[in-house]
Amino acid sequence: MKKTILLVTMSIAWAGSASAADSAFATAGAAQSVTAEAGTLKAVMQQLGRDYAALNQAVLMEDFEAAANAALHIAKHDQPSLGQKVKIMAGLRSEMSAFKQADGKVHSLAVDIKQAAEANDMPLLIQRQSAMLSACMACHTGYRSKIKNILN
Ligand code: HEC
Repeated sequence: MKKTILLVTMSIAWAGSASAADSAFATAGAAQSVTAEAGTLKAVMQQLGRDYAALNQAVLMEDFEAAANAALHIAKHDQPSLGQKVKIMAGLRSEMSAFKQADGKVHSLAVDIKQAAEANDMPLLIQRQSAMLSACMACHTGYRSKIKNILN
């Protein structure tokens, strides 16, 4: 019973960008042998990596529509399974809010990028895109090895 309450509380605490927890990620390349197990944070990150690569390519091709689309996918990125979230929350404890802030930063940059792409504003687009790469890497620097230890 206690455990149920804890799980519910944690899933509410995590919420934020909750809605997209299924679609894109369900199709996230089961064919590729390197693709991580469905529902893991690692699989979510692998999809983010593909979406970021698509954004990069769109910028290089000056394809604003594809850039807006890639940015939308990044903004709506999937979430790991509840089991993974619980482990991460239990492992990070007081650092959880900073971790979520790091995620929120990428999210808001993705929204900025989408808007810049829709406005065909290349200078703003690449400025926000490079800020995004910094934001991805800031979280990796701070949490990647810690979370690998927590999850594996
Ligand atoms: C809130 C923190 C956070 C943010 C923000 C973040 N990542 Fe990650 N990322 C992680 C963690 C933690 C791992 C390690 C996961 C694991 O190995 O279980 C990771 C791993 C990865 C990996 C490696 C996956 C593999 O197969 O080992 C890629 C690729 C990746 N992230 C891409 C991105 C991209 C692109 C962005 C920005 C658009 C981003 N990440 C933003 C936390 C974050």
